[in-house]
Amino acid sequence: MRIDIITVVPDLLKSPFEASIMQRSIAKGLVEVHFHNLRDYTANAYKQVDDYQFGGGAGMVMMIEPIDKCISGLKAERDYDEIIYLTPDGETLNQGIANQISLQKNIILLCGHYKGVDQRVRDQFITREISIGDYVLSGGELGALILCDAVIRLIPGVLGNETSALTDSFQDDMLAPPVYTRPAEYKGWKVPEILTSGNTPKIETWREEQAYKHTLKRRPDLLKD
Ligand code: ADE
Repeated sequence: MRIDIITVVPDLLKSPFEASIMQRSIAKGLVEVHFHNLRDYTANAYKQVDDYQFGGGAGMVMMIEPIDKCISGLKAERDYDEIIYLTPDGETLNQGIANQISLQKNIILLCGHYKGVDQRVRDQFITREISIGDYVLSGGELGALILCDAVIRLIPGVLGNETSALTDSFQDDMLAPPVYTRPAEYKGWKVPEILTSGNTPKIETWREEQAYKHTLKRRPDLLKD
C-alpha cells in the first residue's frame, strides 16, 4: 500500500513511522509513506496556504490552489483508490472502515487545519471524509496517524502472527476476551484454570463467552444485530 499524506506540519507525522509496527511495515516493503508539505505547492512568497473566509467570520480557510496542485500532481502519476480528508464532521472511524481501507492500493490523506479546507476541495477531490471521534483536534495530522496505524496493522504480513489482527476487539463486533500470561499464579491471583487445561475447544468456548459478557457489559450497542 502507498500512502501519500498532505500536511502543513510534516514534522508532526514522521516519527511514528520510525518505530514499532508502522516502521516494520515499511521495512518489509509492505507500505510506502510519502509526506507532502502543502507549503511547497504555494505560488506566493510567504508560502501562505490559508486565507480569510468569504462572507466573513472568525478563522482561516485552507486555499484550494496548493491542495489542487498537490493532489493533481499525485493523480497524474498513479491512480488513487481513495482521497481521504480528515475532519471532525466526517464519518467516525471504526474497525469496519479500517478493514475497507486496508484493502486499497494507493490512498491520499489530506490533513485539514484552521476552519478546514475550501468546500470546493471536498466537492472536487475528496472521496471519503473521516473523523477519529467527536472532538476537535488542532489539525488532521493526529487523525491521519491513527487511521494509518489502524489500517497498516491489518495489511497481510505486517503483524508477525497472521491471526492476531483477526482476534482484536471490534473485529467481530465484539470486544476481545481477557488475556493472561505467566506466571499462572502471582501473589495468590490465579489465571482461570480453563486456560491452563490444554483443552483447546473448551478454551475457545470460554473465550467466546467472556468476549460476549464483556461486550454486553461495556458496549451493548455493538451487539444490536
Ligand atoms: N481534525 C480536527 N479534528 C478532527 C477529528 N476529530 N478527526 C479527524 N480530523 C480532525
